[in-house]
Amino acid sequence: MWKEIEAAPADAILGLTEAFKKDTNPQKVNLGVGVYKDDQGATPILSCIKKAEHRLVDEQSTKGYLPIPGDAAYGASVQKLLFGEQGEVIQSKRAATIHSPGGTGGLRVGADLIKKFKPEAKIWVSTPTWANHKGIFTAAGYAIEDYPYYDKATQGVDFDAMLETLKKVPAGDVVLLHVCCHNPTGVDLNAEQWDRVVEVALVQGWLPFLDFAYQGFGDSMEADRGAVEKFAAAGFDFLVASSFSKNFALYNERTGALTIVSPSAEESAVAMSHVKKIIRVNYSNPPAHGGLAARTVLSDETLYEEWIGEVAGMRERIKAMRRAFVDGLKQRGVEQDFSFIVDQRGMFSFSGLSDEVVAWLQTERSIYIVEGGRINVAGLTSGNMDYVCDAIAEALRA
Ligand code: LMR
Repeated sequence: MWKEIEAAPADAILGLTEAFKKDTNPQKVNLGVGVYKDDQGATPILSCIKKAEHRLVDEQSTKGYLPIPGDAAYGASVQKLLFGEQGEVIQSKRAATIHSPGGTGGLRVGADLIKKFKPEAKIWVSTPTWANHKGIFTAAGYAIEDYPYYDKATQGVDFDAMLETLKKVPAGDVVLLHVCCHNPTGVDLNAEQWDRVVEVALVQGWLPFLDFAYQGFGDSMEADRGAVEKFAAAGFDFLVASSFSKNFALYNERTGALTIVSPSAEESAVAMSHVKKIIRVNYSNPPAHGGLAARTVLSDETLYEEWIGEVAGMRERIKAMRRAFVDGLKQRGVEQDFSFIVDQRGMFSFSGLSDEVVAWLQTERSIYIVEGGRINVAGLTSGNMDYVCDAIAEALRA
């Protein structure tokens, strides 16, 4: 079967990790995939999750199937994080949440769901966007359109250009928006800009699809969901794909969610009935462990507090690494101004390093960075900082 078929290229992000693992250089550094590292370079299991897992092992009495949308209490916990404990969306029961296999699974299930009823809808994504977004929606049969986002000149959002394009998106099309910690650029909209986007969505009638993979990595759980609350307050249809890969460090447990918000509880029930059909023919029902562990933390006051502290610890370490990185380059006489990196949010820094420099760093110094210059700042540690800064300074001098 495969004789006449060419091999596919490696994945832009996960393919780097495969190459990194094969690299025998003891000084190698992986700044590719968005995985948090502590200052020892490890990706530990959060202490709140360890405790929840012990509790689960002790108390669990069955490995029977979960319902198609996943554990109902998990869905309720996800909604509290998205909309706040007293969120109107929750009170009025107009959101349907399913446990998806990671944020990626949530995006794909959502894509399939919309496709079923809006087969002609196109998806609009930011320039640039997460390397996998276009792949997911292409696989689900969508034509992809781009809207302007990052402005190289200002290292910020080109909001006027973005809005101008969003005003031309036809009714029924889907617009993918990053709620916080934009991947790959690390630059976000401010509250007023989100107000404008919500307004345009209402007037134009396009469907917002929010990707929310980094809640807690910007400022706090509450502050980071500001845009979700604005869409919720507007009272119209939208979807949210959220993830516990990063903020619960549950990467390999594939613990995410898709939440479909509708104007009424009746419509929400219809949405849930159809999303169940999509799931059933895809993966039938979700894997339990990650979701049950996250639910255990989210429904226990003490574990919840511990979790909030652990997320704050990750967030603050990344911020400290941003400052150390910018200082390290400056100390080495690098002329280019990298100070903007301090203001970027979340795990990533859109460094502005050229693809040439990125390739040189990989072949000559075993430092792995995603094409386009996205650096996982959470992969920097006090142990590898000098090595990375030396290498970048040398590459930029060459
Ligand atoms: C990333 O952007 O590096 C992460 O979201 C991991 C992934 O699946 O690509």
